[in-house]
Amino acid sequence: MQESTLSIIKPDGVEKNLIGQIYKRFEDSGLRILAARMIHLTKEDAEGFYGIHSGKPFFSDLVSYMTSGPVMVQVLFGEDAISKNREIMGATNPKDAEKGTIRSDFAESIERNIVHGSDGPETANSEISFFFKREEICLPTI
Ligand code: CMP
Repeated sequence: MQESTLSIIKPDGVEKNLIGQIYKRFEDSGLRILAARMIHLTKEDAEGFYGIHSGKPFFSDLVSYMTSGPVMVQVLFGEDAISKNREIMGATNPKDAEKGTIRSDFAESIERNIVHGSDGPETANSEISFFFKREEICLPTI
C-alpha cells in the first residue's frame, strides 16, 4: 500500500553531515521525499512531539538532545513506507540494528540514534501534521 511516514534526521545526523547519505538510502529503496524542512526544535516542540514518552526515565535527556541542534524533518512516501523506513533505519538501539542499516552504520547509542521514523499509520498521520501543513506536502505527479 502506498502511504506516507514522518522521518527525522536527529541533531547527531545533521552534525555529522549525513543528510545526503541518509536521503540516498531513502531514495535507493524507492521512497520519495514529499516535504522537507530543517528546524531547530524548541523545548516545547520536542516535549510535544515526544509527549508519549513523558514520564519515562530518558524523557528529559531525549528532549535536551533533540533541542541540541537542528534536525531535518521529512515526509517519505511509497509502498509500505512506514515499515520500509523502519527497516532502513534499523533497531532503535544501534547495538541491535542489522548491519547496513542507518543506525548500525552511523549511530552511537540508543539516544543518539541518528533518525526517527513513525511506528504505525496513526502515529505517521499525527507526526506528519505536527510538522507540515497539508499544502506543504507535494504529492507525486507520476
Ligand atoms: P525514537 O525512534 O526517536 O523514539 C523515541 C526515542 O527515545 C528513541 O528513538 C530513542 O532515541 C529514545 N529512547 C528510547 N528508549 C530509550 C532508552 N531506554 N534510553 C534512552 N533513550 C531511549
